[in-house]
Amino acid sequence: MAGGIDHFGAVVRVDDTVRRPGGSAAAQIRLFLDHLAEAGFTGAPRFRGIDEHGREILDYLDGDVAIPPFPDWVADEGLLVSVARLQRELHRAAVGFRLPAGMTWPARRLPQGAQGDLVCHTDLCLENVVVREGRAAAFIDFDMATPASPLFDIAVAARHWVPLRDPVDIADARAATDLARRFRLFAGAHHLGAAQREQVTSMVSAFLDDALASIRRRAEAGHPGFARMWADGYEGMNRRSRVWLLQYAKDLCAVGPDRQ
Ligand SMILES: Nc1ncnc2c1ncn2[C@@H]1O[C@H](COP(=O)(O)OP(=O)(O)O)[C@@H](O)[C@H]1O
Ligand SMILES: [Mg+2]
Repeated sequence: MAGGIDHFGAVVRVDDTVRRPGGSAAAQIRLFLDHLAEAGFTGAPRFRGIDEHGREILDYLDGDVAIPPFPDWVADEGLLVSVARLQRELHRAAVGFRLPAGMTWPARRLPQGAQGDLVCHTDLCLENVVVREGRAAAFIDFDMATPASPLFDIAVAARHWVPLRDPVDIADARAATDLARRFRLFAGAHHLGAAQREQVTSMVSAFLDDALASIRRRAEAGHPGFARMWADGYEGMNRRSRVWLLQYAKDLCAVGPDRQ
């Protein structure tokens, strides 16, 4: 299936299921997906077991997934707000999840300020959201799920969906939109106050610093997906995003009267 970076080419559809290699926290993530289903959250695939090749079996979720080059519909404000709303539901459903005694999450380095106790997706890029009738219907690819601050989860999603970057680095219809307004709509749908908006934007900066180091490392180690990102100019884009965030910080964090 198209769209992945980490498992590029390794995710396949078999009838109503998706088969994919598990990540390093596969056992923990299965339990988390079970918890979400029990909590009534329908915006995530159910885990169905392991197939004869050792791959995870997950529900195939019908809908559209935006993959680059991104189509014009990714700029829709209603879609943006629906991502925030579904993420808010996910955060609510995740409350109370605990791993069984003796089981722990693999250690994961999070950006400064991003630590927390709520199990979050932490990778809500466009390719990991299933869209139906123009609205976010489900999140997929929970490989990066880990305990964190929900504000960090929001920071990552906003980074991708607003997106928070210099318009010269946006190759789709969102380049011509008011990005600060899009961020305010996203933050508004999450009911964030001014202080939380500031925390979110500073987590985006911290995330960019960490992403620069880790993508460089994985590209140098020969990972094809990350090597391609690096060759496509990831470093320049990352640095321009940092500058852009500083420049627009005030506009971004204003608690404005924006209405979608
Ligand atoms: N449960 C699913 N339902 C529908 N499509 C899926 C599902 N899981 C994955 N996909 C499709 O396969 C692509 C890659 O899968 P993903 O799990 O995100 O792998 P990666 O770890 O490589 O990002 C997704 O972007 C999406 O298009
Ligand atoms: Mg993915």
